[in-house]
Amino acid sequence: MTVLITGGLGFVGSHLSRALVGQGRGVRVLDAATTQVHGAQPHHTDSEGIEWVSADIADRRAVDAALEGVTAVVHLAAEVGVGQSMYEIRRYVRTNSLGTATLLEALLARRGQVQRLVVASSNTVYGEGVTRCPQCGLVNPGLRPAAQLARRDWELRCPQCAAPCEPVPTPESRPFAPTSVYAISKQDTEQLALCVGRAYDIPTVVLRFFNIYGPGQSLQNPYAGIAKNFAVRLLHDLPPLIYEDGRQTRDLVHVKDVVQGICLALESDRVAYEVFNLGTGRATQIAELARLMARALGKPIEPEITEQFRAGDIRHCIADISRACDLLGYRPTVSLEAGIPELADWLRGQDTTDLTTRAQDELSAQQLVR
Ligand SMILES: NC(=O)c1ccc[n+]([C@@H]2O[C@H](COP(=O)([O-])OP(=O)(O)OC[C@H]3O[C@@H](n4cnc5c(N)ncnc54)[C@H](O)[C@@H]3O)[C@@H](O)[C@H]2O)c1
Ligand SMILES: [Zn+2]
Repeated sequence: MTVLITGGLGFVGSHLSRALVGQGRGVRVLDAATTQVHGAQPHHTDSEGIEWVSADIADRRAVDAALEGVTAVVHLAAEVGVGQSMYEIRRYVRTNSLGTATLLEALLARRGQVQRLVVASSNTVYGEGVTRCPQCGLVNPGLRPAAQLARRDWELRCPQCAAPCEPVPTPESRPFAPTSVYAISKQDTEQLALCVGRAYDIPTVVLRFFNIYGPGQSLQNPYAGIAKNFAVRLLHDLPPLIYEDGRQTRDLVHVKDVVQGICLALESDRVAYEVFNLGTGRATQIAELARLMARALGKPIEPEITEQFRAGDIRHCIADISRACDLLGYRPTVSLEAGIPELADWLRGQDTTDLTTRAQDELSAQQLVR
């Protein structure tokens, strides 16, 4: 099996390519090495037995050439940044939606060659996760109304009776409700891949990653990576900046577990045209994450709770991973208690510049923070 990893120089891709080479597979990477993620000097992986094609995912000719001899594709190439996608709209749609379209046209020109396509989607396609209303049962809330947020009233309310709701794990069957351009482009990615894959018998698997963390996440890109961004601020003796009241929750999944899920999706023959959440099923409050990170770095700095909010931000979204466990055999292995100190150790050895402050100012200038 020779695997093409698009976006393979990135955070997930570099862990995945090493894992696949370790399994004795041939690996080719197609990656434009964007400056936002890699800075001026992209890390070269040729030396590790991985062939790197430096090209844009929306360049049909380059994608054609990269597919030569390939029997499986993992499509990770994307612009990654929820807030930034709200004003760099064309850039996100071009890479994420048109890029996927380009890959699919190249694949159907080689019908029968590629036996497995795995595409990276995101929990953001759900918007808010599923919640339980004490009266109405399970409900899918939409975005909280602006007037509610203006009162600094943060918790989710039932869309039917307005009672306060409790978050529960979100299954793949929750209808799409993306709340950012990035999320819409990930919905495009997965739906285009499933639709074209089914029509042309390219066995396709969609993986919806939750919030991934771990060593190797881009230090150049302040638009993605909540745990890493908190750490960068702490290393500069700045408090992590937290929106709302800090009690919003996310599902933080270690990159090693995401790689496990991708490898299973490449291997299993029973999962064609299926969609899976890859998370942990565990909810972590954002302020708690900041404190965990501060402890791991030995920086006694409390997070700054701003009581501001970002347009399109969700309150809670936690993965229901039962499908991935049952059908893929996926089992998350890295707890936050082990993963955060590991991330802290890695970061201590890195040269970090604080780019989060500038990114924050940019969001404010775009009137996305209120
Ligand atoms: N990191 C997360 O928390 C997370 C969560 C959900 C989904 N995802 C998805 O997982 C995938 C991998 O994310 P990541 O964290 O490794 O991101 P990353 O930014 O580290 O890697 C993405 C890679 O894509 C490349 N790229 C960007 N635009 C390109 C283009 N036009 N042509 C070719 N290559 C291009 C970049 O150079 C980079 O190496 C993405 O599809 C992302 O949407 C990530
Ligand atoms: Zn209700």
